[in-house]
Formats: sequence, C-alpha cells, structure tokens
Amino acid sequence: FPSVVGHDLLTLKDFSNSEIGYLLWSAADLKKRIKIDKEFQNVRLLEGKSAALIFQKRSTRTRVSTETGLALLGGNCVFLTDSDFHLGVNESIRDTGRVLSGYCDFILARVNRQKDLEVLAEGATIPVISGLSEMYHPLQILADFLTLQEHFGSLYGRTIAWVGDGNNIIHSLMMAAPKFGIHLNIATPKGYEPDAEISKICQRFTEENKTSVNFTDDPREACSNADVVVTDTWISMGQEEEKAARLKSFSGYQVDTKLMSLAKEEAVFLHCLPRKPEEVTDEVFQSERSLVWQEAENRKWTVMAVMACLMEDYSPIHPMPEF
Ligand code: CP
Ligand code: NVA
Repeated sequence: FPSVVGHDLLTLKDFSNSEIGYLLWSAADLKKRIKIDKEFQNVRLLEGKSAALIFQKRSTRTRVSTETGLALLGGNCVFLTDSDFHLGVNESIRDTGRVLSGYCDFILARVNRQKDLEVLAEGATIPVISGLSEMYHPLQILADFLTLQEHFGSLYGRTIAWVGDGNNIIHSLMMAAPKFGIHLNIATPKGYEPDAEISKICQRFTEENKTSVNFTDDPREACSNADVVVTDTWISMGQEEEKAARLKSFSGYQVDTKLMSLAKEEAVFLHCLPRKPEEVTDEVFQSERSLVWQEAENRKWTVMAVMACLMEDYSPIHPMPEF
C-alpha cells in the first residue's frame, strides 16, 4: 500500500485512487477488528498522540466520530472553537499552526474558508485534516464510499446522481469519484452549479479515468438509471441569510419516491446529514433504500483510518475489499 504518513488531507484532489483505496481498506479493516472482533487492545495505534480539533462551525458527526475514534486508537484531543482560542484574532493562523505543532501530532479543523485551512497547514509542521470548509468535505466522501462498497460490494462503474446545491459535498465527490470509475450526474439549479475550477479538474479526472460527468438543471435527468442518489442541505452553514432565496430556487429538487423511481431498481440514497425535510421526503429518507445511518456511522471508521494512516503506516490484517 502507498504510504500517506505525514500528508495533509485538505482535499481529495491531491489523493490518488490507490491512496484513497488504502484509507478505505484501513477503515474497513478497523471496523472489522474493533466492531466485530472486539480487538480493542491491538488497535491502540495512536497511544501517546494528541490532536487539536478546531471547529469554527457546528458539528455532530465530525466531532463525535473523531473524538470517540481517537479514544479507541489510544490518543487524546483538545476541542477548540474560535471563541475560546486565538484563530485569526490576536495571532496569525500560520503562527497558530506552528504553535499547535509543538503540543500535538495532528490537527483536524472545520473552518469557514479553505484558504485558512491551507494557511494553517503551511504554518503547521504536523498533518492537518479538513473537517469541512466551504469548498470541500473529504472525510464525508470517504464514509460515503465505504458505505457504497459495503452495500454493493464494489464501486467501479456505478453512477452517482447528485440532486441539490453545488456545494462542498459534491465538490469532494467530484475530486474522488472518477478515480474509482464512478460516473457523476450532477443536477443543480441555475446559479448554484459547482465551482467552475473544480468542475474543470473533475473533467480532467474523468478523461484520465474514462468516466463521465454530466451537468444538468433537471433532477430527473440526473437520477435516470443512477445507482445512487445523493443530496444535502440547500442551505449550508454560513448561508443562513440566503435561506428564503434558496428555498425558492431549489423548488422541484426534493428527492421523493417519484425521483427515486427513475433510478435503478436497486438504487440507494445517501445524505451526509444533518437533514432537513425540504431536500428529501420522509418516505425516501426512512426507506430501506436509505443508507444514511450506516453512512453516518462510517464517518467514525473512516476518520480513524485517516488519523492512523497519516501518523503511521497502518498494515490492514484483512484482505482488501473490492473498490
Ligand atoms: N456530515 C457531517 O459532517 O456532519 P456534522 O456537521 O454533524 O459534523
Ligand atoms: N453542506 C453542508 C454539509 C454539512 C455536513 C454544510 O456545509 O453545512
């Protein structure tokens, strides 16, 4: 497997198929070893290691999966919000990165701006992991891929339909899906398309990997024949003031059984959560096709793999799943 020791994880753009595959394999391996085989004593891979968890925005999954996962690996962490330590106030973000490097072994940060994450990583001498920014959410996509692998037995050749905002989640999906032979159908209302630069990079990845990405403003077109339908909130953290305008622009974008019926019969539904009812009906959200709870749980096994593999070369003991 490829070593990712010492790497930052700021975006999946910088990670190859084999590096992402290794992280997913490690996640599946840790899940089996801990959840099934109860090998608690043998997985204290981060004993003596400390992490700074920086959160400029709210979080349930990212925070709890990271804190509980790190505890299982034998490490410890300090939870910091920008109201209780210096982050871009009184001290530069770069200096903060350097100072935290003297106490900790890695940083996981959820920030308002991807640029700040990059500056933090420039100042830090330890790995920095993104816990979400306005541009990307790489940890979420690792959990999504693990969930789809568990469900379908492989990822290659699947088609994922995105119905919703051109936001951080689809951006991260665009940076990873083509590398796994996954096709993307992306439906966003006019004016809410994914970032143009990211779309260009995605297009390059699709050419390199002989996959496709289709952009449309018609959710039905995107869902047609898809294996997976994915959505997210229409109003990301920090966009609360745009709520009224967004609710109007996204009308017709709710994922319901009619839309799901256009996808393949065995198609599943994903949502990174937190969920609001406007983007998906209860009927779909609570259905057998919805993998959202498994997806949320997999945030824990995947972030554990990321932490373990950035700190040391983790050798999975179980065979690599098919991706
Ligand atoms: N999906 C996700 O990142 O959830 P939180 O905002 O609760 O961390
Ligand atoms: N797009 C959402 C994801 C939350 C996990 C947001 O940025 O708020």
